[in-house]
Amino acid sequence: MDHFLYRDGELYAEDVPVRDIAASVGSPFYCYSTATLLRHFKAFDDALAGTDHLVCYAMKAASNQAILKTLAQAGAGMDVVSGGEYARAIAAGVPGDKIVFSGVGKTHDEIRTALTTGIRQFNVESEPEMRRISDVAVSLGVVAPITVRVNPDVDAKTHAKIATGKSENKFGIPISRAREVYAEATKLPGLKVVGIDVHIGSQLTQLEPFRQAFSKVAELTETLRADGHDIRRLDLGGGLGIPYTRSNEAPPLPNDYGQMIKETVGHLGCEVEIEPGRLIAGNAGILVSGVVFVKTGEDRQFLILDAAMNDLIRPAMYDAHHEIVPVKEAEPGVELRPYDIVGPVCESGDTFAKGRLMAPLAEGDLVAFRSAGAYGAVMSSEYNTRPLIPEVLVNGDQFAVIRQRPTFDEIINRDTIPEWL
Ligand code: LLP
Repeated sequence: MDHFLYRDGELYAEDVPVRDIAASVGSPFYCYSTATLLRHFKAFDDALAGTDHLVCYAMKAASNQAILKTLAQAGAGMDVVSGGEYARAIAAGVPGDKIVFSGVGKTHDEIRTALTTGIRQFNVESEPEMRRISDVAVSLGVVAPITVRVNPDVDAKTHAKIATGKSENKFGIPISRAREVYAEATKLPGLKVVGIDVHIGSQLTQLEPFRQAFSKVAELTETLRADGHDIRRLDLGGGLGIPYTRSNEAPPLPNDYGQMIKETVGHLGCEVEIEPGRLIAGNAGILVSGVVFVKTGEDRQFLILDAAMNDLIRPAMYDAHHEIVPVKEAEPGVELRPYDIVGPVCESGDTFAKGRLMAPLAEGDLVAFRSAGAYGAVMSSEYNTRPLIPEVLVNGDQFAVIRQRPTFDEIINRDTIPEWL
């Protein structure tokens, strides 16, 4: 459930008419709902009630500091995957001991900064990374808490580009090599092993792959404990999917996911961390865009929007489906028409939907892309020198711009011209 609903024929974000926000900031823009973010965070937090746990929001999904602060104030930790994300989390006031650091390519600088400022744990993805973290920790005279991310070779049954738990994927170390890697970790002077990490993919719509992966992690926990390792924390990653269409079968709810976690690893007495991103932010955000033209082609009508693939890449990149709804609700009974919904970027791939049935729309009308809160703004670019679009956060009857639209000057003045020109 989200808080983007029609009232009196108008789409509202919580208690604010979306049209009012558009009038104030111009289109296109991203709009997030505080109540939805908090509701989704709480769904995970409640699902793990009774188990020592920390919900570490995967901030790659939507990383505006206002979103981070909203979630951090509710008790969330953060999962970060770069020095930039780490800096954002710290700037948003997240304490280092609530930040876990994932990612396959951690640099010396990133490790040093995290160790100096504070870190809950590094989720180590390879042996060379493990050695590097130890070296940096030793050079700083500290000990780095680590888990090793294992690759359980489980099919997450999701889009190939976002599956991470098969042996052909670059993530984690093969679970078959886990014992030797943990044995090496204990010999490295700068490391303290605190647990095991796993993450098998994103937009999972079934619990079974999670169950398989977590069962393998449970088994490994017992093996490693028997080998003498102090495994007291399990980071089970993120990945629970969200419904993108109203018709398709709804993915499992956080509560069922929490129950399955308790069933698979509950007997081990470990502290549990999870790293949900999409389920917290996805349906907490919409992308609002205006119709620039309705163009008649040979055999179809194109709805040319002011948002483009650079603002929301998911349809172009993963053939992702996003519901697109009019901001002014269609009259009941009005006949729907098929539109190819496109952006102004100079690529045919800049297509959001083909033959999408919509109530008739005209120049200047506003539409909203639903489920755009996760992997929307964060994956945007300035391709075609299109400014990154504003982000707006709604809270009850108030809204605030949480990222301004840059001016053209701000964008082009980032270039520097060599003196020989
Ligand atoms: N933890 C790790 C280590 C991850 O790599 C990810 C996502 C998450 C947690 C959060 O997964 P979530 O709960 O959001 O599924 N851009 C793609 C999704 C990429 C996901 C990458 N990793 C998309 O738009 O569908």
